[in-house]
Amino acid sequence: MPNSTSPETLSANNLNAFWMPFTANRHFKASPRLLASAKDMHYRDVDGREILDGTAGLWCVNAGHCRDPISRAVAEQVGTMEYAPCFQMGHPKAFEFAARLVAMMPAGLDHVFFSNSGSESVDTALKIALAYHKARGDAGRYRLIGRERGYHGVGFGGISVGGIVSNRKTFGPMLPGVDHLPHTHDLARNAFSKGQPEHGAELADELNRILTLHDPSTVAAVIVEPVAGSTGVLIPPKGYLERLRAICDKHGILLIFDEVITGFGRLGAPFAAEFFGVTPDIMTTAKGLTNAAVPAGATFVSGKIYDAFMHGPEHMIELFHGYTYSAHPLACAAGLATLDIYQNEGLLTRAAELAPVWEKAIHGLADLPNVKDIRNIGLIGAIELESIPGEPTKRALDIFLRCWEKGLMVRYTGDILAFSPPLIISEEQIGQLFDTVAEAIREAA
Ligand SMILES: Cc1ncc(COP(=O)(O)O)c(C=O)c1O
Repeated sequence: MPNSTSPETLSANNLNAFWMPFTANRHFKASPRLLASAKDMHYRDVDGREILDGTAGLWCVNAGHCRDPISRAVAEQVGTMEYAPCFQMGHPKAFEFAARLVAMMPAGLDHVFFSNSGSESVDTALKIALAYHKARGDAGRYRLIGRERGYHGVGFGGISVGGIVSNRKTFGPMLPGVDHLPHTHDLARNAFSKGQPEHGAELADELNRILTLHDPSTVAAVIVEPVAGSTGVLIPPKGYLERLRAICDKHGILLIFDEVITGFGRLGAPFAAEFFGVTPDIMTTAKGLTNAAVPAGATFVSGKIYDAFMHGPEHMIELFHGYTYSAHPLACAAGLATLDIYQNEGLLTRAAELAPVWEKAIHGLADLPNVKDIRNIGLIGAIELESIPGEPTKRALDIFLRCWEKGLMVRYTGDILAFSPPLIISEEQIGQLFDTVAEAIREAA
């Protein structure tokens, strides 16, 4: 009997039926890359080839693949109680997971709202920000400020405040009352920076210009990724996030950090807020929250925000928002087991130990052909390439495919290669990763 990955089953399953997300469907289906299993730092494809995971799946498998305690916890939960609603009732693991999470949050982020993805975590944050101002009698604050090149998922809220043009341009007018800060990418001044770039803190002052234009008393929240990931890794210039925080404070505007990729140890501290020493009022997370074993999102809010809703008759619902699968039992079981692994193995700070090795390895590729920038922070890195004239993204695609053939998974956005391996990567595997990328860049030149 053919198994689910055998060639017989694959050809019986018409590849056309699945409209793949963020994928060049026709190109992929002509020559598919199909993954069949995974363990620790590696995937195996359907032909049994081992592939080093240079991207933690999609920036999400922070503790490495198929970790036994997580698999066991999920299996046990699915056999005990596969689902329980959290509307007007609950289950103990939801409260336990919430309490464990807020205990590890930067001070003040005392409450958590569960969802199923980063996109939902973001839309939850935006809705809470708007509803918060209304709850305290300041309903005139309805504007949301995002940033060019920002990625906040694919919901209408997220693409409205997001700034990746191709994710926005075909979807109509989106949310009203949204404006955008300029992005912080400045190759002329900051190319080949190690860690935070020196130049660009003043770009945060653009928020003052936007506030003057719109009147600060109409602005509810500013949302940024502390490190922008999906657009190709843009690291905040020194002093930039501090300035955003100060301007928001001055005008009573909420600051939202989208930590969907930076959360759970990616930078070498549990959260980017701690790494950069800047605490937001609301933080969105997903991905590493459950090590991606079960989809989940979590939006953290300060006590000030939660308390603003806890008024009125006690039998009334305070926030008309939630998902059938908020705090899904499988997600809570996976999340609790994930937190244990993070804690037992010191993974939330391990990127800080590896960062110098990582930085040296990636910057070792600086002299390769067509490399116009290399940037890194924590266990994140990016190599920006000269585009082939008239054929943007083609060079990075070529290198991505060559890496795949050589048994390495990387990501690319435009002509930028991005790397974000599981936090369990060894120093030797870091060497292997960048040796393979170097070989692919040379061959593609
Ligand atoms: C910063 C950020 N926010 C939101 C999202 C959306 O997460 P999801 O794909 O789980 O909806 C992502 C996904 O990459 C992200 O990087």
